[in-house]
Amino acid sequence: MQANDTGTGAQREPNPEGEERRHGERVSAHIAEAIDVAGGWLSFEQYMDLALYAPGLGYYSAGARKFGPSGDFVTAPEISPLFGACVARQCAEVLATLRQGEILELGAGSGRLAGEILTRLEALACLPVRYSILEISADLRERQRRHLCERVPHLLDRVHWLDGPPAQDFDGLMLANEVLDALPVRRFCWTRAQLLEIGVARGVQGFLWSGRPAANGVAQYCRSLHAAGGDWQDGYTSEYCALLGPWTAGVTRSLRRGAVLWFDYGLPRAQYYFPERRAGTLLCHYRQRVHDDPFRYPGLEDITAWVDFSALAEASAAAGFRLAGFTTQTYFLAGNGIDSEMHRLAAGDPNQFARFADQARQLMMPGEMGERFKVMAWMRGMDVPLSGFALRDIREAL
Ligand SMILES: C[S@@+](CC[C@H](N)C(=O)[O-])C[C@H]1O[C@@H](n2cnc3c(N)ncnc32)[C@H](O)[C@@H]1O
Repeated sequence: MQANDTGTGAQREPNPEGEERRHGERVSAHIAEAIDVAGGWLSFEQYMDLALYAPGLGYYSAGARKFGPSGDFVTAPEISPLFGACVARQCAEVLATLRQGEILELGAGSGRLAGEILTRLEALACLPVRYSILEISADLRERQRRHLCERVPHLLDRVHWLDGPPAQDFDGLMLANEVLDALPVRRFCWTRAQLLEIGVARGVQGFLWSGRPAANGVAQYCRSLHAAGGDWQDGYTSEYCALLGPWTAGVTRSLRRGAVLWFDYGLPRAQYYFPERRAGTLLCHYRQRVHDDPFRYPGLEDITAWVDFSALAEASAAAGFRLAGFTTQTYFLAGNGIDSEMHRLAAGDPNQFARFADQARQLMMPGEMGERFKVMAWMRGMDVPLSGFALRDIREAL
């Protein structure tokens, strides 16, 4: 997830107005009521869940624009068709070894990635028998349907939207770009005296952070993070995603034979909980601006936290998968032939080539998305080498 403006420029701070502002007030009132019902305190996980997913109100449940230059942020598939083309090449390697393989995409956003993958797989003569999408947002499902109707109308009969994880076992491939960072997280603060779970209470001016002694399970987990991260100073604050294991196990349960590809920004645990990262990784995106105050525009902006890839690797083993690769977005795209995809898409037009070269730079340069974004592959019931991890596999850092 990228924003065009980090908020440090001289541009006027965007402010919600009119119906958008009223929508934000309704979301805040809904969360305030939930805090009252809970006795004055909600965990941050509960707050984030309501702000993003409260039915009809949350950021992903209501009709905010979200993606693209006119939305709040851009993701890799929105930046360039090169991303989808390379992911498709990776999918083709898996599908080629399976008979009747399917694809299931989790959290498909605007549908752009699905459109690129289907287009490229058709050209490679390697279409999946079904392309299913599990999308929590009714509004985004509609947007995906419209996009795919325009982009691949002749393939629409292969596309299905699911209301939950597939009930039937299937062989194939699952993938998710920037979905794990949108799972609600718990927040904690480490002090010499005690470990606090940081939640949300109501103040005179709105919501405020409020700590209380962490329950045993939270404290125990945070001690393991401390052991991995190093010498935290008093007041060290961070977060972790307790839902990561159960959620990934639930959505991947029905994959009998095949691979799962997770794309997201994040770090191995020892780097995530590095002592210098004293305030965690929570970030909010509103109209191409990034800030770290999740109480500013509840319901109107995205709230995200980086992914602990060591936790994701542990989840893969616990769910019965084999870790098949872990690398940066740069190496994944290079391994899947982004250079030849650039030439193919530009089709000899030097202006187009320059445009794709610029997009590739955004996807791959270390200061842009190249190193922050990682790719992790899990496999079950099959064992094929994947090109995306052939150039560099950094699993030893997990
Ligand atoms: C940051 S967006 C990324 C969208 C898209 N994958 C892309 O790369 O542009 C997160 C997506 O995940 C979806 N999502 C979030 N939580 C979900 C869940 N529990 N189940 C299914 N989809 C979810 C959101 O509605 C949204 O489509």
